[in-house]
Amino acid sequence: MSRWLELFAVLAVLGAAAADTPANCTFEDVAGKWTLWEGPRGVKPGASCANHQGPWERKVRVTLLSPNKVVDQFGNEGTWTMVYNQGFHINVNGRSYFGYSAFKKEGQKVTSYCHKTVPGLAHDVNIRHWSCFYGQKSGSKMLPKIHFDPFHPQGLQAAHLSRAHHERVVSAVNARARSWKAELHQPFAGLGVEEMLRLRGG
Ligand SMILES: *[C@@H]1O[C@H](CO)[C@@H](O)[C@H](O)[C@H]1NC(C)=O
Repeated sequence: MSRWLELFAVLAVLGAAAADTPANCTFEDVAGKWTLWEGPRGVKPGASCANHQGPWERKVRVTLLSPNKVVDQFGNEGTWTMVYNQGFHINVNGRSYFGYSAFKKEGQKVTSYCHKTVPGLAHDVNIRHWSCFYGQKSGSKMLPKIHFDPFHPQGLQAAHLSRAHHERVVSAVNARARSWKAELHQPFAGLGVEEMLRLRGG
């Protein structure tokens, strides 16, 4: 992979880390049948999808099985994994999806909607053709889960992420990456999220 693709990959991962969320979802909450709704391709690599409104023009149905197998509606098999307790990463049919579970935070009260994601990024396994997508678990009558989180930082955008935090993300990504490897780029270690976004030009 070229240095540029690699850089984009790392920035995308760090961009995702910037969204570190208080959601608290388990494997059991997330495993099952999902519909992934995808917007137009051509989104800037690593862009934020947070305010993406659609249109959602492609629909892919996937079933997330234990321990890490995913099967899509056409019978293609791939892999998936939870990303901490905050979301999931799916690789199937040449495409990769990274979605954070939906949540609402009111003071210390956090409500996790583990059967939905907020809009996240998708791209081909060769890190091209980016798009925004969101996921909705089907046939589920899952209730929102509430917990109290006095420790989650309030203003994460302004937070200074430590080298340890970056390393944690990089190794989590490597643990699930099949076709490429994330590296910790020394110049980024210790940078805050805002600085990182500025570097990215986003
Ligand atoms: C997250 O959920 C798990 C299992 O439902 C629970 O054991 C854990 O205490 C929760 N974490 C927080 C921070 O509430």
